[in-house]
Amino acid sequence: MPAASVYLDHNATSPLRPEAFDAMVEALRVGGNPSAVHGVGRKARGLVDRARRQVANRIGSLPAEVIFTSGGTEANNMALAGTGRRRVLISSIEHESVQRAVPEADIVPVDGDGVIDLAALERKLAASDEPALVSVMFANNETGVLQPMAEVVRLARRAGALVHCDAVQAAGKVPVDLHGVGVDYLALAAHKLGGPTGVGALVVRAGAPFASNRFGGGQETNRRAGTENLSGIVGFGAAAEAAGGLDSTLRDRAEAALLAIGPGARVFGARARRLPNTTYISIPGVAAETQVMALDLAGVCVSAGSACSSGKVHRSAVLAAMGVEDAAAGSAIRISFGWNSQSGDIDRLIAAWRDLYIRVSKSDIADAKAA
Ligand SMILES: Cc1ncc(COP(=O)(O)O)c(C=O)c1O
Repeated sequence: MPAASVYLDHNATSPLRPEAFDAMVEALRVGGNPSAVHGVGRKARGLVDRARRQVANRIGSLPAEVIFTSGGTEANNMALAGTGRRRVLISSIEHESVQRAVPEADIVPVDGDGVIDLAALERKLAASDEPALVSVMFANNETGVLQPMAEVVRLARRAGALVHCDAVQAAGKVPVDLHGVGVDYLALAAHKLGGPTGVGALVVRAGAPFASNRFGGGQETNRRAGTENLSGIVGFGAAAEAAGGLDSTLRDRAEAALLAIGPGARVFGARARRLPNTTYISIPGVAAETQVMALDLAGVCVSAGSACSSGKVHRSAVLAAMGVEDAAAGSAIRISFGWNSQSGDIDRLIAAWRDLYIRVSKSDIADAKAA
């Protein structure tokens, strides 16, 4: 019997945590509409309220600041549309759900390690008196590089700007504290921390301006209309409570081993502070697609940069923004660990990658002989 797959693609979607699964089954049994006044409705409402507290606890907000959405994309879209600010500054490595929501945004560059250029942010903020919105992600989905959010907030505040932060990849992996950091809007997605897909949250700091563009039944205190995704929200709450953070032991071991096998291998963002679970590594000479397929055949799931809905692999805009040359970017794979990763997973990854590397080296030698 083939061994079960080793799943090292938690930044795409982390498998459902058992706590979330159990809570969702409980919610599915309750059913009902949380807005209904009868007993079943009140029970459903109680479950949504509990989930709201669990999510709020994970990110240091008040429960009333949490607005449940259909995921990180909707949370980012709603935030960027809802602040009333027309002048928007975003970093050059934001997720498409930010970039494409504000196509006219002024882009703040990042350095070679993928960290926002704070001096450029300061200059751009000073260039106009029009009140701005600054959008910077907490951690990048491809490199895992953490952004200096406290500094971003400090510069933004000094210029009277509001701050939106896409914390989709950070929450549950590293501490995230809405009020501690001082951001105004924070986006979350349940499936990145072991909850279900199709549910997330926009967290709006009490007092921050916010006008919703969702109209309907007045749910989520008029900020996101539509009957709540009861089981999804409940699973999100349970996962958020269980997701107390990750450490970098497995990632560091894998990274050291891969760097030792492939001469010329390099880790993007290696000098920056990074999420403890992510390595974005380039092994020169082997196309990322080839690596992903070869590892998949060996039962190891990783990805080539960011996943996208078509299943096609595009050159990474994040690596381009970091100034990485095409040859290195074309052979970059992302390996991301998570709550159920184990030491044996690393052994399988290393063995599969070593096999691939030996095969590629042999065919290179054969090609050289034939030439
Ligand atoms: C940084 C970041 N923001 C936003 C999203 C979008 O989240 P969702 O797929 O839940 O809409 C993702 C998903 O990959 C992400 O990595």
